[in-house]
Amino acid sequence: MTRPTIVAGNWKMHGNLGMAENLAEAIAAGASESKAKLIVCPPYPYLDAVVRALGDSDVHVGGQNLADQPDSGAFTGEVSGTMLRDIGCWHVIVGHSERRSLYGESNEQVATKFGLARDAGLVPILCVGETLEEREQGQMESVLKAQLEAVVRMHGVDALQDAIVAYEPVWAIGTGKTASPDQAQAAHAFLRQQVAAHNATIAGVLPILYGGSVKPGNAPELFAQPDVDGGLIGGASLKSEDFLAIAAAAS
Ligand code: G3H
Repeated sequence: MTRPTIVAGNWKMHGNLGMAENLAEAIAAGASESKAKLIVCPPYPYLDAVVRALGDSDVHVGGQNLADQPDSGAFTGEVSGTMLRDIGCWHVIVGHSERRSLYGESNEQVATKFGLARDAGLVPILCVGETLEEREQGQMESVLKAQLEAVVRMHGVDALQDAIVAYEPVWAIGTGKTASPDQAQAAHAFLRQQVAAHNATIAGVLPILYGGSVKPGNAPELFAQPDVDGGLIGGASLKSEDFLAIAAAAS
């Protein structure tokens, strides 16, 4: 089955307005060379400027997070999925490991956000991944299963039909330690099998991205794995030449 190849950049809490605009313009200028679908996820304050800087390029914009509350209300500091969609986002990251570990987001809270993203017309990028301790204790599969099943339990497997999953082993994020292509493939195949146990068709078309210290040098081998459908890129997405080189590795 064919699946889209996707390369998404998570800019995290980096940069300033000028940098965000320049980066978006440079990515837009090089995007036509990429066979992969490109997404960039800037910090909230720069979303609007990035949407404008990308102009009519095919690069989509995503939020890095959304509120776990419906559309509007007295939730100081929060941003709803509807607001993200309103200013031109098509995607939103949910359950990034930094949200889970630094802000205590539970599997259930992440699943709630996943549903709210879909309700708002956004494509959620659901991040899952195990810590080093969990991997060393042989818990990788049970952790991934719990993170994925929380979404299926709350919304049904059909909710994964218009979604993206990103496998991001926590021990590989921002550490320079990339999962080996075999490790990435094993985790991605496991995730796809979990979805297939509910619905083989959805599993077959679900894009599963790898994230964790992806660089231009290691992207080709990672993306060559049969169940790796692209990447969610952190640090290397902050330089247009690196991000575009990674995108070029995706076919
Ligand atoms: O969302 C992106 C991931 O956290 C990966 O970040 O490429 O800097 O390791 P990294």
